[in-house]
Amino acid sequence: MASSSQLAGRVAVVTGGSRGIGAAVASALLALGSDVVICGRSAAALAQACGWPEAAGAGRLETVEADVGDAGQAQRVIDRAVERFGGLDILVNNAGVGRFGEDLAAQSIADWRTVIDTNLNGVFYCCRAAVPALRRRGGGWIINVSSLAGSHPFAGAAAYCASKAAVNALSAALMQEVRHEAIRVSCVAPGSVDTRFSTGPAADTSWKLTADDVAQAVVDLLRHEPRSLPSYLEIRPARPRRK
Ligand SMILES: NC(=O)c1ccc[n+]([C@@H]2O[C@H](COP(=O)([O-])OP(=O)(O)OC[C@H]3O[C@@H](n4cnc5c(N)ncnc54)[C@H](OP(=O)(O)O)[C@@H]3O)[C@@H](O)[C@H]2O)c1
Repeated sequence: MASSSQLAGRVAVVTGGSRGIGAAVASALLALGSDVVICGRSAAALAQACGWPEAAGAGRLETVEADVGDAGQAQRVIDRAVERFGGLDILVNNAGVGRFGEDLAAQSIADWRTVIDTNLNGVFYCCRAAVPALRRRGGGWIINVSSLAGSHPFAGAAAYCASKAAVNALSAALMQEVRHEAIRVSCVAPGSVDTRFSTGPAADTSWKLTADDVAQAVVDLLRHEPRSLPSYLEIRPARPRRK
């Protein structure tokens, strides 16, 4: 998988692909000719994705309504890629949620579980389901969308920061387990990205990364020569807001 032309005909799963970073990654892969399965919990958002403009030579899109925080539903997403497109080459674990602004002592157990179930357990369930399918193809790539918060924790976001730190560790461990089978595992850790993820007051967001910036980083990774494994990539706004 060394050039964009080699992304044509590949099969990718992008979790949380109905909007934001996942939608940008899925659209970029489709445009390069990959067949893509996206999942999300909202059927309405997935239905909208089916109306994405289709370029000539684009790959095929399949949508699956699924919560990655449920092991059976995560398995169903991977199975759908194999059933519909004949196998799996790329898994982008992007689905994620945040709960910000509440100190740990005030955080509800339900919120803690939602963040850990989605951001950490979901990555585990999808990787666990995907590795056998990648092995059957003789290799592939897993890209986990982490966050700078995984290495730079901040107050009011204990669950989120912990989930992303764990994703970094999970990715590094899995990378060493499967690299000799030509399965590459990478983490992409963005800083602030202008999506619906952080729904603060409508302030100037022009300094933030765009979802397309992150998608470009993901596609660039997938273009690396088979001998090369960039295992961890931070991508930051070049000129962040001064505090
Ligand atoms: N935006 C940022 O500043 C930023 C920075 C660093 C890292 N990230 C990471 O980037 C990833 C994508 O974030 P984003 O900014 O694109 O967020 P977003 O705009 O809120 O999109 C999140 C996507 O994930 C899906 N999703 C959420 N929970 C899910 C679940 N349990 N099962 C399946 N799908 C689920 C959502 O669809 P449904 O709601 O319909 O399920 C949606 O498609 C996340 O992992 C986030 O932590 C974001």
